[in-house]
Amino acid sequence: MSEIVKTWTEWLKNSRFSYMSEEQKQQTFLWLSQVRDKVLDRANLKQGDILIDIGTGNGLLSFGAYERLKGIGKVIASDAFIDCVEECYKIAKECGIEKEMDFIQTDATDTKLPDNSIDVVVMRSVMVHILDKSKAINEFFRILNQGGRISIFEPIISKNTKYYELMTPEKYPNYQILKEAEDKMTSDENDPLMNFDEDSLKKDFENAGFKNIDIDIVVQSSTYPVSKEMLDPWFNTPPSPRRPTVKEKYLQHLSENEVNEFIERLKQDLDGKTITVNSPTAYIYAEK
Ligand SMILES: C[S@@+](CC[C@H](N)C(=O)[O-])C[C@H]1O[C@@H](n2cnc3c(N)ncnc32)[C@H](O)[C@@H]1O
Repeated sequence: MSEIVKTWTEWLKNSRFSYMSEEQKQQTFLWLSQVRDKVLDRANLKQGDILIDIGTGNGLLSFGAYERLKGIGKVIASDAFIDCVEECYKIAKECGIEKEMDFIQTDATDTKLPDNSIDVVVMRSVMVHILDKSKAINEFFRILNQGGRISIFEPIISKNTKYYELMTPEKYPNYQILKEAEDKMTSDENDPLMNFDEDSLKKDFENAGFKNIDIDIVVQSSTYPVSKEMLDPWFNTPPSPRRPTVKEKYLQHLSENEVNEFIERLKQDLDGKTITVNSPTAYIYAEK
């Protein structure tokens, strides 16, 4: 298991940007603000709403929701990890608004909040880190009021462009084996990043009792030139703290020599090429 990144705040502040150019970083910030606005728009916020941001991280949705509900509603910034709750509190304190928000450490699958106590649940890129997604969705249904709303955003990583789709097959003597390994990795039921797609999420929402479920799929498509220096960070940056890197996942299926040789061949194959990578994402809205 990767020990390079130990906490979520460290990952949110640094690791996730580690392989990006300054321009890509700025694009990512812009994209994050667009996602935040769309998730909050779809939540149809109203006067009096009590809103919880599940897995707030460093407060992307919480502070956006605060701006919209300032003086007319309440925002609860929640996260399973104390470093995130403390980080949000620190930011709120710096802005002088720490008394106007609530901050709680709680797990999405067992919030300990009373039944029917919340008007709006919002969440961005948290379900993708939870193994038992139906448990979390049932929990959101339990804490929402009758008529309560949920608006979330999740990347559907299992449907991202695969490495083998970018590779020139003739350049890899064991192309078929590499393809099979990646297919196994992207359909692993025990990997929270991979064990779902928009259809399984829809089923989980229906089974929990949600109605008026609306799923908006947006495919992010990035086209950019690759240089071989970009590949080590792709393979060695963990997707979240204490989770295996892509290289570590390949090592579950292939020997160290095979993985190292594969990465070297991929560097030669992609260096100087312009690639297009598609990453489907889902905005989900539903009502209790
Ligand atoms: C990719 S970050 C997203 C943070 C934030 N929502 C945002 O949009 O920037 C994932 C967040 O989910 C939180 N998280 C992971 N598992 C969780 C769980 N079971 N319950 C609550 N939060 C969780 C992490 O601590 C982290 O802050």
